[in-house]
Order: sequence, then structure tokens, then C-alpha cells
Amino acid sequence: MPTHPLLDVASVERLEPYLEGVGHIFRAFREQDSGCVSYGVAVGGERWFVKSAATPTGATSLGRALGVHGAVQHPAIVPLRHHFKIQGGLALIYPWVDGEVLYHPTVSRHGGRSDPTSPMALFRNLPVADILRSLNAILDAHLAVEQAGFVAVDLYDGCLLYDFEAQRMALCDLDEYRPGPFILEADRLPGSRRFMAPEEFSKGSTIDIRTTVFVLGRVLRLLLDAGDDERKWRGSSSQLKVIERATASDPADRFASVEALVQAWRGACSGRC
Ligand SMILES: Nc1ncnc2c1ncn2[C@@H]1O[C@H](COP(=O)(O)OP(=O)(O)O)[C@@H](O)[C@H]1O
Ligand SMILES: [Mg+2]
Repeated sequence: MPTHPLLDVASVERLEPYLEGVGHIFRAFREQDSGCVSYGVAVGGERWFVKSAATPTGATSLGRALGVHGAVQHPAIVPLRHHFKIQGGLALIYPWVDGEVLYHPTVSRHGGRSDPTSPMALFRNLPVADILRSLNAILDAHLAVEQAGFVAVDLYDGCLLYDFEAQRMALCDLDEYRPGPFILEADRLPGSRRFMAPEEFSKGSTIDIRTTVFVLGRVLRLLLDAGDDERKWRGSSSQLKVIERATASDPADRFASVEALVQAWRGACSGRC
């Protein structure tokens, strides 16, 4: 049987020359905050997303990703197809997914969500029904995360890969998700402040599924708003009530599970989501 140069390889000395040898690098992500370097690679008629660790922090993160994808599969989560060793680290192979992340910070550039040509602003201009469909995909994927006993860490709009043509939402970069609950041993977790729960900034706190409920509440709040400063809510008041409960500062006041959040959200959408 013929072997596949990305899916059947166990280790590669130097990744970039290897990728150029077996195919063509059509896109490179070298400026990521994470310290990872990723490539869009065409091999034969297929396109792949190859993510590699260039730093110890990046390598730890990619190691975590193996655990996440081993435990969680969902049609909206870009599946990990293979991984192999590279000099000093790891490379992960995913199918290439068309679309754009709603927010793309790099080492040299942050912000820009309110720029009318940004993916986030374009997304926020879509018909409400399209946004509700995307939100539903994100929530549904997190039912699978919950069932696997994992909690969301570092979920933000940089994980939301939207194909404006196919109108399809996919989740990428779930590398920091962990089995939960766990105790926060650092001063804070990685992530975007706009999405994070208060306990993620408090050493010694418990990070559990209620933390995930909070972050999902923030996703709902920020995506279903026409602007970037939360003053142009596009949903109903009952949807907003669900979000208020999901994002209560005391975890005890939130929904106790993603499932409870999803039920409440679907109830508030009265069959429209
Ligand atoms: N499967 C994929 N197909 C196409 N593009 C992707 C895919 N996964 C991620 N990307 C793009 O690559 C960028 C970097 O990937 P990501 O996993 O977020 O890396 P990092 O952890 O370094 O931020 C993302 O912002 C997104 O634009
Ligand atoms: Mg990222």
C-alpha cells in the first residue's frame, strides 16, 4: 500500500524542507503568539494544516492537543489526523479548512475587531439566523467537550474559523483544553480577557465546567452583537437573560453544565436556533 507523506510518517528531521519536498507550502503562520509555526500544505490534490512547536511552551500545548483530540470528536471541531516528531518538538496534521478566524492576533498586531473589513465585523453583519446556526455549532461541540470530561481553556474568537461562502463554523486551536476540574496553579490561564471567567485570573481557584459555561456565555454575547462594545445586542431579552446567568461572576450562580446552558439557550430561541 502506498504511504502518505504526512499521515504515515513517524518522524521528520527538519519540517519545512520536508514539507516543500513532499508538496507545496501555500501559506505560513510564523507570527503566532503561541510560539507555534503552522503551514498550509498542498500534497497531491489535498490540502493540510500542519502545526509545529518551535518553543517549549508551544510543544507543551501541542502535547495537550493530542489528549484533547483523543477524547473529543465533533463535526464542528477540526479533527487531528496525525502527529509526528520533529527535531526538538512535534508536528500535528489537520485537514485544511477554508475560512478565516474571526480574530487573528499575531506577535506584532492585536485589535482591529471593529474595523468594518475585519472578519469579526463581517460576521456580525450576517443575518441573525446565520449567526444563531454558528452559535449552535459551537455550543453543540461543547456538549461533546463536556461529555469527554474536558473544560475549555483559551477559547476565544481566534478559535472560530468561519467559512463565509459555505456559511460553516469550525473550531480550531483547542490545544489548551484540559481534563477538568483542575486547580489553577499559575497566576492566570492563557486566554483573551474578553472571554475569560474571573476564576481564570485567581491562583488556587477551581476551573471546572462552570468556567466553560462562562466562556460560552461570552461567545454568545460577543457574536450576537452588531458592534464591538456590547451596545448593539441583536438577540432577544430572554436570550440575554440566559447569557447573564451563564456569565455570573460567582460560578455557583451559573448554569451547572453546558447541557443546562444549551437547554436554556434553545428554550430562549423558541425554535429558531
Ligand atoms: N485546520 C485549519 N485549516 C486552515 N487554517 C487553519 C486551521 N487551523 C488553524 N488555521 C489558521 O491558522 C492560524 C493559526 O492556527 P492556531 O491553531 O490558532 O495556532 P496558534 O496556536 O499558533 O495560534 C489560525 O488563526 C487560523 O487562521
Ligand atoms: Mg490560535
